[in-house]
Amino acid sequence: MSTEKKGFAERHKKLERNVTLLGVATLVTVAIGGVVEIAPLFWIDNTIEEVEGMRPYSPLELAGRDIYIREGCYTCHSQMIRPFRDEVERYGHYSLAAESMYDHPFQWGSKRTGPDLARVGGRYSDEWHVQHLEDPQAVVPESIMPQYGFLKDAPLKIADASANLTALRRLGVPYSDEDVEKANADLMAQADPDADAGNLAERYPKAQIRDFDGDPDRVTEMDALVAYLQMLGTLVDVNSAAAQEKLATEKGR
Ligand code: HEC
Repeated sequence: MSTEKKGFAERHKKLERNVTLLGVATLVTVAIGGVVEIAPLFWIDNTIEEVEGMRPYSPLELAGRDIYIREGCYTCHSQMIRPFRDEVERYGHYSLAAESMYDHPFQWGSKRTGPDLARVGGRYSDEWHVQHLEDPQAVVPESIMPQYGFLKDAPLKIADASANLTALRRLGVPYSDEDVEKANADLMAQADPDADAGNLAERYPKAQIRDFDGDPDRVTEMDALVAYLQMLGTLVDVNSAAAQEKLATEKGR
């Protein structure tokens, strides 16, 4: 063994046999690793790559989302398609981080008693959803999903939709002053075919404006929930967004 190597071995022996010294050295090594991982987060504004098409929920979609949470749909349904082949084949393109960037709280979920709903929007008709929510077993005989027909009889009552948007804005969701101001009118107009929806469609691109529950005379909780289900996964053109993401990583290499 060369003297240089021998010297190194001697020093290492000392390090290994002195508990205090080994402890301090371990701490220093781990701290360097920690700083390298954590420090950049203080300098970058956003850890989520933004994708085209993503926008905050409209007041009606948001109301539907609140009903979804209230009724505990998340206890059986996840909203995150993982990047595995079997998931992508069953549910569609894997979920992008940006697709849940305005979710407070997120609905990724960890348990799937029922299927993932991240891209359920547009897969079925409104009538299918209403019928399925009223009596899941009438549509899928072996289903263990509970019945939610009462939502059709419950008029949609939101104390103040503007306040909901303001709360989310404080958490960083980019609602405009106009969005907040018109929230209560937007809420009703999106599910009422006779109402004047104003510029709702411009402020919320791809918003679906129609009667959802089959009863155009009133706006119910069923309207809100179906509006929410029908928009899930429809905002981002995933194939082009993913292509852009891939291009960006390749350029970065
Ligand atoms: C006890 C668990 C459970 C709860 C709670 C539950 N579901 Fe389900 N859900 C299921 C199961 C199981 C299926 C698959 C069989 C079927 O289609 O009914 C399903 C299917 C669905 C589907 C069809 C998905 C697809 O891709 O075919 C939708 C939409 C849905 N549920 C929405 C909801 C909503 C909205 C709520 C809350 C109001 C809810 N579920 C609550 C278990 C549940």
